[in-house]
Amino acid sequence: MTKLSVNINKIATLRNARGGNVPDVVKVALDCEDFGADGITVHPRPDERHITRKDVLNLRPVLRTEFNIEGNPSPEFIDLVLKVKPHQVTLVPDSPTQLTSNAGWNTKEHQAFLTEVLEQFKQVGIRTSVFVDADPEMVEYAAKAGADRVELYTEPYATLFPKNPDAAIAPFVEAAKAARKYGLGLNAGHDLSLKNLQFFYQHIPWTDEVSIGHALISDALYLGLEQTIKEYKKCLR
Ligand code: PXP
Repeated sequence: MTKLSVNINKIATLRNARGGNVPDVVKVALDCEDFGADGITVHPRPDERHITRKDVLNLRPVLRTEFNIEGNPSPEFIDLVLKVKPHQVTLVPDSPTQLTSNAGWNTKEHQAFLTEVLEQFKQVGIRTSVFVDADPEMVEYAAKAGADRVELYTEPYATLFPKNPDAAIAPFVEAAKAARKYGLGLNAGHDLSLKNLQFFYQHIPWTDEVSIGHALISDALYLGLEQTIKEYKKCLR
């Protein structure tokens, strides 16, 4: 079964626009779980422009499904994750000012750094995932660094999908096969949507988890959150 982890960054962006607690990030996360989400993802950034450190601390004790914290492993990020002990941490090489993640790690170049960081999480039993482009060599070096999983960066898939779905999925199938070969679990995320998710799942059904935020929260404006989560789950059958 491919799990759906709902990324709730956009809920925090909306709340922060007014400075109060509407919408309530914790309540939305719990509702996502009630509506069928298998996990909740957050991406705390140093400027706290969406999810704050306080949100991360508030969410941990109340979530009933899997909690995934993603981000660039700065010393502050590592401290927060070690304190909160989520089920999974996803390492992303984004700079503090970046609008959104736009590339995976060069796991070959940063193998030593990743090995050292991953080891700290493994010692306390947190499952680790490394965000990579759909490149078998990057998957191989994520395995060498000791990751439990890779998360494939799916923006290039989503961009090419409307024009040429077969060409769009091909490198992802190769990278996903590499993950299987090296004994890694497989996650995927970025720009997945109701348009492109089912095709992705049909070609790579051994995907463990997809993490989806922007399109899902946007769809919820029209369909409502409950119906939207059900529609995304249907794509994973
Ligand atoms: N995975 C990672 C590593 C991300 O940084 C993001 C965006 O925060 C996502 C998945 C979700 O992407 P989207 O919001 O486009 O669904």
